Amino acid sequence: MIRFEDVSVDYATVQGGRIRALNHIHLTLDDGEYVAVMGPNGSGKSTLARLCNGLVLPSAGTVHIDEFRITADFSRHIPDIRRCVGMVFQNPDNQIVSTTVEREIAFGLENLGVPYDEMQERVAEALQTFDLLHLRNRAPHQLSGGEKQRLALAAVMVMQPRHLILDEPTALLDFRHQSEFLQYIRRLRESAGGRPPMVMHITHFAPEALFATRLLVLHRGEVYMDGTPEDIFLQESGLREIGIDPPIEFSAFLRLREKLPIKSVEDLRLRPIL
Ligand SMILES: Nc1ncnc2c1ncn2[C@@H]1O[C@H](COP(=O)(O)OP(=O)(O)OP(=O)(O)O)[C@@H](O)[C@H]1O
Ligand SMILES: [Mg+2]
Repeated sequence: MIRFEDVSVDYATVQGGRIRALNHIHLTLDDGEYVAVMGPNGSGKSTLARLCNGLVLPSAGTVHIDEFRITADFSRHIPDIRRCVGMVFQNPDNQIVSTTVEREIAFGLENLGVPYDEMQERVAEALQTFDLLHLRNRAPHQLSGGEKQRLALAAVMVMQPRHLILDEPTALLDFRHQSEFLQYIRRLRESAGGRPPMVMHITHFAPEALFATRLLVLHRGEVYMDGTPEDIFLQESGLREIGIDPPIEFSAFLRLREKLPIKSVEDLRLRPIL
């Protein structure tokens, strides 16, 4: 569970002023949820993500991560929190530190002091799960963008985080690698059985949010909408007001439902219209 209790974040500006990135956020992200986060540039998405592992501290309020908490003047739990929150960012080059794929996956486990045999086992499993076995001796910088992002995900998941924070992980990928990455997320949630990690997935691509069980829309540092992706995408005018386009099938449904006997977006998907 990650809970934001009246959390605000202010950044110092170069002119010596302050800018409010998040304004009095109250929010609970429960275990097992897959929460997509959308919002215009500068709406506070990355700040929300970075609060989850102490990369950014709240200026006011409390961030609760399971049994741990962070406030402006209490950050002693950050090392524990980093162990249970995994993060993947937009650009894997900023995240990858090792000389081979295999070493990159082992890196975090070595730092944790995981016994050698267990480490070997977990690395082998991660190489398998993320289809990296054939690349295990390659230098990460030789990989394609999609492969690198898969490696970043494998290196995070091998740590068995309880929560996974994804900040626009597919923004630099082509369509094929984008959908491949999403399939890995889907698979790792399905294969986790009853205890999938909570996923917070920031994205600018509306169709990606349909993979989630919940969608948060941020605007000017506040939660503007919160609901299922399907319900939110039907609120087209509210979304367009802040510059977000719903996926094409939702716009089409809203236009066609007056003229055709369709009751939901699903009908539109199944029925040949022409
Ligand atoms: N380190 C920083 N110093 C000063 N201001 C910052 C800093 N990081 C973010 N901001 C400001 O805080 C606000 C929220 O930024 P944030 O990066 O959280 O937005 P975002 O929704 O992730 O945007 P994007 O879609 O561009 O990634 C913006 O106005 C941004 O300029
Ligand atoms: Mg961002």
